Amino acid sequence: MIETRRLPFSPEAIAEAADLIRTGQPVAVPTETVYGLAADASDAAAVARIYAAKGRPSFNPLIVHVPDSAAAEALADLGPIGAALARAFWPGPLTIVAPLRAGAPIASLVTAGLPTIALRVPAHPAMQALLAASGRPLAAPSANASGTISPTRAEHVLRSLGSRIALIIDGGATGLGLESTIVAVAPDGARLLRPGPIDAEALSAAAGVPVTTADGGTIEAPGQLASHYAPAHPLRLDASERRANEWLIGFGAVAGDRSLSLAGDLTEAAANLFDALHEADAATTSGIAVAPIPERGLGIAINDRLRRAAAPRP
Ligand code: TXA
Ligand code: MG
Repeated sequence: MIETRRLPFSPEAIAEAADLIRTGQPVAVPTETVYGLAADASDAAAVARIYAAKGRPSFNPLIVHVPDSAAAEALADLGPIGAALARAFWPGPLTIVAPLRAGAPIASLVTAGLPTIALRVPAHPAMQALLAASGRPLAAPSANASGTISPTRAEHVLRSLGSRIALIIDGGATGLGLESTIVAVAPDGARLLRPGPIDAEALSAAAGVPVTTADGGTIEAPGQLASHYAPAHPLRLDASERRANEWLIGFGAVAGDRSLSLAGDLTEAAANLFDALHEADAATTSGIAVAPIPERGLGIAINDRLRRAAAPRP
């Protein structure tokens, strides 16, 4: 048990966080998607402390955050398609999986021994400031206990990881509220591994080749377990009304106990999704129901997270 401090985002807070990073401790920090639990990706013991704090299965590789495309190219061979995607979407909510360069200073625990690495250049000023101040590539999964709802506010991190980590940088609610889109690149193509804020159409346009979903049954992103983002209460999807003892998360015409977006706006809904799940989970009701979300644009990523949250637990 350690005391968890929560400091508003400021230069002083970032300096303290960078000191912790340099001594091998993980720190929670906001990004434009969700809060991340960051640690030095070159230090195996530091990365192990991420897994320990999250209680995360060790076969899950982590996303490594770097300050810019040049830093990404130093660690991985992005290839022409990866470079085009980086130019179009970095800094931003895109993670690119590409071959790891021989001798890159990355702990093998980060990649779970895979020959590839997942890289992201984040746009959020707090994560960018921590990258600059620490001077380290930062492995950072979402800052929540493994398998639970992702954190979009410092309070969510505190509730999930309080007394397990030393410091939370509080930057308020994250802007996007959904984890980054993950795409794997090869010399001749690209595959969508996790839907997210940037959709397949936008990726295809920037890549110059079709970026398609990896179906066919193989788990390409090992973290893509069916049951993920799980609330403690059972979750019912496509609900148009509340059943007994349920807390209803609404959308559009279905108002519910709390609406993701009364106007039916998918961007607003994505930003509210995890916070609404946290609120529903904390309610005294025993089940959670969610109104139908249209399967288009950001709705594809929202429904992906909801299906995982509703999946039977292993
Ligand atoms: O928005 C985000 O991406 C957030 C913020 C904090 O940046 N991070 C995040 O990281 O969602 P995490 O660790 O929760 O998600 C990592 C995902 C997992 O699904 C994992 O399997 C996949 O990235 N991944 C990591 N390395 C991979 C690799 N070499 N090949 C395929 N998938 C990989
Ligand atoms: Mg996660």
